[in-house]
Amino acid sequence: MTGTTMETTAVNLADPRTFAEADLSGFWREVRTRRPVYWHEPHGFWVVSRHADILTVYRDNTRFTSERGNVLVTLLAGGDSAAGRMLAVTDGPRHRELRQILQKVFTPQALAQVARRVRQNTRRLVIDAVGRGDCDFATDIAGQIPITTVGDLLGVPDGDREFLLTQTKIALSSDEHDADELESSLARNEILAYFTDLAARRRQAPGDDVLSALVTSRVDGRPLSPDEVVLNCYSLVIGGDETSRLSMIEAVRALAEHPDQWDLLRRGEADLASAVEEVLRWASPTMHFGRTALVDVELGGQRFAAGDVVTLWHSSANRDETVFTAPDRFDLRRSPNKHIAFGHGPHFCLGAQLARIEIAEVLAALRAFSTGFEVTGPARRIHSNFLTGISSLPVRFTPDTAELY
Ligand code: HEM
Repeated sequence: MTGTTMETTAVNLADPRTFAEADLSGFWREVRTRRPVYWHEPHGFWVVSRHADILTVYRDNTRFTSERGNVLVTLLAGGDSAAGRMLAVTDGPRHRELRQILQKVFTPQALAQVARRVRQNTRRLVIDAVGRGDCDFATDIAGQIPITTVGDLLGVPDGDREFLLTQTKIALSSDEHDADELESSLARNEILAYFTDLAARRRQAPGDDVLSALVTSRVDGRPLSPDEVVLNCYSLVIGGDETSRLSMIEAVRALAEHPDQWDLLRRGEADLASAVEEVLRWASPTMHFGRTALVDVELGGQRFAAGDVVTLWHSSANRDETVFTAPDRFDLRRSPNKHIAFGHGPHFCLGAQLARIEIAEVLAALRAFSTGFEVTGPARRIHSNFLTGISSLPVRFTPDTAELY
């Protein structure tokens, strides 16, 4: 199905196959116009599709909670076992305290240091790939950048990063249609066990990494519990790796498909900062997040009952024609660009600045070392009802010989 309209009842938003097989842009356009807030059967949850309505829910962590899960998988399972201990699924004063500790890591000074390493790493990867001519952009370049960055932040030894990358991919989404939930949950346990062990080592000998900051932090004189330390490391790996990776891959796919935009970027007629925002809007790697209503709430002419699951669809909001002019145009000079790829309100993405740095460095390296590129084989889509994007993208570069040698 390519961009045509579909009955809402025919589209199962809980099923990963829906996203692997169909272009839902026509569906979302129709939903925004005709049923902006609707009840989804099967499974029973609300679907919110308009930008303005989504902001209303995101802002309101009094009437809506994240503590019963914040993505369909956990919301439909009835909760998240990390609730109240992991930042993204904690609300109220504890959320503020945890966020303050984690925010220390993302100060402009700390980010400047991380940015230098991101630049070195990205330039080396791009120069190598351009020199070879052909590569799989998804695995050879994008696959190496965010995990290295999060690994640097958390002080993960180099030799363990490949292991973490493999487990993260399995934990969150899948390249394989027949992969099961058991495999994902085993991978999540592997990541937690890994950080339990590393945290014990950092307690003995703290360094200047985030994990050391977590094990030595005090809130009201009390340290974080071992569970809180490990779960919040997990949330940085899970939150910081695949989302940024999928955005970079989509950037390259979209630029190959829109040579006019690549030319603007290369000639410096589209600046990096606005290009990054458009890549984020276009990729919208997290298709939805969600909340549970704590009380009865009215929105978009519908009435949520206390306990109802409410899902917020970025894939739709970031194409909302009441907010974006020509929303289906990939436009690196788009301004204003009020996308909600990073969410909004109290849970606004903690790593947003870091993700922007990573995407900017990829675009900067591409335009510095290559005059162009083409996609040389089929792109493989990931399999998920939460994340969208590509896991394999064969690309051939035309080197900018003046810069390379
Ligand atoms: C929260 C998206 C990169 C860590 C969020 C939320 C979104 C999001 C939409 C809000 C979730 C909610 O309201 O329930 C993205 C996208 C990224 C990205 C699209 C890349 C393109 C990162 C990075 C990190 C990170 C690089 C860290 C290294 C987090 C954390 C939260 C979060 C810890 C929870 C914040 C809180 O609950 O207060 N992210 N993220 N993210 N993100 Fe990101």
